[in-house]
Amino acid sequence: MKHTPEIPFAQRPSADGLWINLQLLADPAHPDVALPDAAIAVRDGQILWCGAAAQLPLEHAHGPRHDGGGALVTPGLIDCHTHLVYGGQRANEFAMRLTGASYEEVARAGGGIVSTVHATRKASDDELFDRASERLLNLLAEGVCAIEIKSGYGLTLAHERKQLRVARRLAEAHGVTVRTTFLGAHALPPEYAGHSGDYIDLVCQQMLPALHAEELIDAVDVFCERIAFSLEETERVFQAAQMLGLPVKLHAEQLSDMGGAALAARYLALSCDHIEHLSPEGIAAMREAGTVAVLLPGAYYTLRDTHLPPIQGLRAAGVPMAVATDHNPGTSPTLSLLLMLNMACTLFRLTVPEALAGVTTHAARALALHETHGRIAPGLPANFVLWALREPAELSYWFGHRPVRSVVRQGRIIREIMA
Ligand code: NIG
Ligand code: FE
Repeated sequence: MKHTPEIPFAQRPSADGLWINLQLLADPAHPDVALPDAAIAVRDGQILWCGAAAQLPLEHAHGPRHDGGGALVTPGLIDCHTHLVYGGQRANEFAMRLTGASYEEVARAGGGIVSTVHATRKASDDELFDRASERLLNLLAEGVCAIEIKSGYGLTLAHERKQLRVARRLAEAHGVTVRTTFLGAHALPPEYAGHSGDYIDLVCQQMLPALHAEELIDAVDVFCERIAFSLEETERVFQAAQMLGLPVKLHAEQLSDMGGAALAARYLALSCDHIEHLSPEGIAAMREAGTVAVLLPGAYYTLRDTHLPPIQGLRAAGVPMAVATDHNPGTSPTLSLLLMLNMACTLFRLTVPEALAGVTTHAARALALHETHGRIAPGLPANFVLWALREPAELSYWFGHRPVRSVVRQGRIIREIMA
């Protein structure tokens, strides 16, 4: 079955004009300063002006009017860590874990990431696009305006290319900012069993340069873990990325403290993600490098992890914390960033301002999008969400609820989810 959005993005109405009667939360890191009776002027898909309606400059007062009805308005949300493009699903492993197997045991028995690799290799471009579109629409309906999508379920040049091309196509079809991350070093493909050095050669010498030349890579990631790649192998991939001028990030210290975060910080990584087992040295290195800590409560929850990431240490060091879905078929089969917002507070004890910054300003930084995304400010593309809520804390408080009234994405009004 071919999936096409009901109204193609390019045919959505323009958001140009004056948005009035808003409660404006321009920077979610400061939810106390939501501005009542605010307005946003949009022209050519960009924010021209925003602030208290009483101070609206006369020259912005013309054009179509959009009455927000007193809605709370935030920047579009950003999901800065996903594995959205893949074939199949892994409910069977979920069932196995319920009868006692661990994630590592399932992976070592040939399940885990490698089982999704088989399904992804079998799937055509169109199948991958259709399945990923369905998932993406769930996230977009919650006000997501920018998303990271990783490869890493192909593990050959052709199949990694297929995943990354689908990610680019999703951006075009749905009018959403997509940052692609090459995760060729996600798992050792079965045909390289016992030859992980050779596989890293392939990643560094063939896949990375070819996919970079095709402009399919915005950043490079590695899964540095006992069941994946060592610190030395991770560094080889980082060196290859650095040679090409590509930024890096890392699946770091998820199941054990490998020292990955400190290594990533030496390569000025955009982010270190998971980090349940992050050490004080890792925190210090991330602070020095300005690396974002990406917290993934969906994976923590699914794996019934009990080892909390060092939130207090990160907070004390001033390391920016982001929150993401980590959507993937193994450890985080969620399609709700709002649920992650709630879990980040409930499970990890983030404060409301921290959690809101985690899905906006800090998520933007984790994707090097902070110049253009994560805030509502003049000169930025018009990405904002009108919520049927009265106060910002409600965004973290409700769960299993989708209180979106309207979304403006890339300067267009997404109508079908308007109240
Ligand atoms: O982010 N940790 C490694 N990668 C994914 C899991 C992928 C999978 O199990 O398919 C993660 O949790
Ligand atoms: Fe992940």
